[in-house]
Amino acid sequence: MAGSRRSKLRSRCNTTLEDGRKTSLPALKEIRMKEIKAIIRPFKILDVVSELQKIENLPGVTISDIRGFGKSKAKDSKEKITEGLIAYVQKVKIEVVVPDEMVETIVSTIQANAHTGNPGDGKIFIYPVDDVIKIRTNEKGIGAI
Ligand SMILES: Nc1ncnc2c1ncn2[C@@H]1O[C@H](COP(=O)(O)OP(=O)(O)OP(=O)(O)O)[C@@H](O)[C@H]1O
Ligand SMILES: [Mg+2]
Repeated sequence: MAGSRRSKLRSRCNTTLEDGRKTSLPALKEIRMKEIKAIIRPFKILDVVSELQKIENLPGVTISDIRGFGKSKAKDSKEKITEGLIAYVQKVKIEVVVPDEMVETIVSTIQANAHTGNPGDGKIFIYPVDDVIKIRTNEKGIGAI
């Protein structure tokens, strides 16, 4: 009994982090999906999405109209919208959840097609995704993407 408890504990400690340390969180090793969130200029959305659609096995894309500001707080932008003392710029947010192997392709496609070289081109953020559940089929994990 004590032996089987010990071996259960040992199996919980079998994940090795990149720096060589062990962790008791095996789930860390199983994260194989990322969310890519890009904030871009609205006039670039057609170029970006039409190139994303050419990528084989693209699982899906979510697009939202958003507003925000970067480091300059939209002060110098010609297209700024002011609300009281706050200035915003209209942007578009693109969200894509993909297996790790697709991250590079998605990021480079967005980057290449959203770039003008001027301030306000936007940013791309990349996050680990713990899990995905497909509502229709109850599939979970990478197969549900
Ligand atoms: N750190 C951040 N966190 C959340 N949203 C951000 C962040 N940085 C930028 N954004 C969003 O991205 C939009 C575009 O940002 P922008 O490209 O102006 O960033 P920047 O750091 O000011 O770069 P640049 O010097 O090229 O203008 C902002 O309006 C805001 O919606
Ligand atoms: Mg800016």
